[in-house]
Amino acid sequence: MKVDVLLGLQWGDEGKGKVVDVLTPRYDVVARFQGGPNAGHTLEFEGKKYVLRSIPSGIFQDGQTNIIGNGVVLDPILFKKEAEELLASGIDLRKILKISRKAHLILPTHRLLDAAYEEAKGGAKIGTTGKGIGPTYTDKISRNGVRLGDTLLPDWKDRYRAAIDRHIAILESLGAKPDLTEIEQEWLDAVEYLHQYDIVDSEHLVNKLLAEGKSILCEGAQGTLLDVDFGSYPFVTSSNTITAGACSGLGVAPNKIGEVFGIFKAYCTRVGSGPFPTELHDETGALIRKLGHEYGAVTGRERRCGWIDLVALRYSIMIDGVTQLIMMKSDVLDGFDEIKACVAYKINGVETRDFPFTLDGVEIEPVYVTIPGWKTDMTGMKSEDEFPENFRKYVDFLEKELATPITIVSIGPDREQTIVRNKK
Ligand code: GDP
Ligand code: IMO
Ligand code: MG
Repeated sequence: MKVDVLLGLQWGDEGKGKVVDVLTPRYDVVARFQGGPNAGHTLEFEGKKYVLRSIPSGIFQDGQTNIIGNGVVLDPILFKKEAEELLASGIDLRKILKISRKAHLILPTHRLLDAAYEEAKGGAKIGTTGKGIGPTYTDKISRNGVRLGDTLLPDWKDRYRAAIDRHIAILESLGAKPDLTEIEQEWLDAVEYLHQYDIVDSEHLVNKLLAEGKSILCEGAQGTLLDVDFGSYPFVTSSNTITAGACSGLGVAPNKIGEVFGIFKAYCTRVGSGPFPTELHDETGALIRKLGHEYGAVTGRERRCGWIDLVALRYSIMIDGVTQLIMMKSDVLDGFDEIKACVAYKINGVETRDFPFTLDGVEIEPVYVTIPGWKTDMTGMKSEDEFPENFRKYVDFLEKELATPITIVSIGPDREQTIVRNKK
């Protein structure tokens, strides 16, 4: 059996949660492999809406096993909150969720460090989600982290204390005056709460399930343009959001990867700072934001909006080895007379179709192709046979430009508003 991967090709919020939920019935296992509560994955069905942060989006279907892999960073307090809210809605995760012993924990001081580092950056702020993601991955790489499995060892509090003391010294050097009196006990209680979950050697579990012929879907968080190696550095997150991240974040060998579903919006958004070549600062951008309800699922921040960027998408498809594309939120453009797609960048008067070394501080002029709109409400459609002619043409155009088939089209936030195309 192979492991399929679903990941975002833009700057996150492409609609990964929705599609993972839709695809879950095809799989036995759904696993998260990186990121943490910086993610906000929205699912809508039967008139209800859920936003998942650290928990995989495969929990609402038919009792599939869900796994939080070693590559994820877990905040015990936020995990407890998320799990308790789900329990109140009748979902008992203890029966279906396994968590890796090797997942690193977000300590209370990591959140304070995130805020202090952002403050120190002044105008060059990344605009992080403030969840302590960067400092936690930094500690992992510098070999100072605390893993969930460590908290089951007798001497773990020494390791915890050493980390906290080191963080307090850094915070003080940055001029902060950390007060942990309340949060520390809450955090320790939440660690105790986590111990009632199935804490496993998830790399062994995943490979055992594969050997038994079970199918696995890996759910990416963030997007390829936020990848720490290949994204718009330094305005990125601190993990590998790409297909390779599923290998290191779950212990899956590269030759076990099967299909790679690359997911993108029919336009483009970004939240936080950083370059965005096709960003629209005009009323069209504001209209996309309004029609697409483009506000952060985690922070409520306004998402910046712009036209689809095929230069960036081609790059993401290359890095991820995407085999199938999924286009989201085309319904947001249903009423537009015409839409634009960026097919190349002009940098210093020279046109390029390749994603450059950096987007930061470079004058990039997007080269657009204008496409006639389809001017049809597609939100109630049930099959691709109903697609209007101009929408078909848009899909054909994208498939040609991206040299990859679009196999699923999403026409609204609900689980039901998903059209699986026959053609592959
Ligand atoms: P994720 O982080 O990739 O899971 O995406 P988010 O949940 O942060 O953001 C996607 C938003 O778009 C959510 O509010 C979804 O409910 C919504 N959404 C998903 N697919 C569609 C779609 O096809 N059309 C519309 N209009 N909304 C969608
Ligand atoms: P999902 O999984 C959109 C962005 C932040 C910031 C940068 C670094 O819902 O698609 P971090 O807190 O990770 O250090 O922030 O990355 N960011 C996201 N943007 N969707 C996300 O997740 C994001 N997770 C982080 O806004 O610019
Ligand atoms: Mg999101």
